[in-house]
Amino acid sequence: MKSVKTTKDVYPRIIEVLNQSLKLEYSLITHYPRIASSIDDEEIKKMAIRLGEYSTRHADIVARAIQELGGEPIWNLDPFPESASLIPIFRIQLDKEKLALSLHTEEANLIPNPMLRGKFTRMAEEEKEHIKLVEAILSKLGEKEGL
Ligand SMILES: [Fe+2]
Repeated sequence: MKSVKTTKDVYPRIIEVLNQSLKLEYSLITHYPRIASSIDDEEIKKMAIRLGEYSTRHADIVARAIQELGGEPIWNLDPFPESASLIPIFRIQLDKEKLALSLHTEEANLIPNPMLRGKFTRMAEEEKEHIKLVEAILSKLGEKEGL
């Protein structure tokens, strides 16, 4: 019997990286609103909520790309970053936004379909903005705490 080669066999690394991104974007979606709920400053609260909303669109693009490339989206989450203070929490978020940038950049390099590749190149560009936004939050929090 002739075996059918799926995209998953041909591009296992793409599916693996995409699923890693899906997990990351989903943890951003769920953690930002929870973090926002513990922030008193209205401006910082809105920035945190906005960061969570951006990730919803990214997660949808990633999940659809996995299916389009013959893989199966794996739905699981990272644990919530437990800390008493917002600064260490946002430092973790900053690392996650940086990881999202590196994953979406790798995905853009691996994806053979030019249109889909374009979506990931744009997402990587958006992650650069998210990194700036988290850095702005961290500097506002630093000012507040007199760091
Ligand atoms: Fe992001």
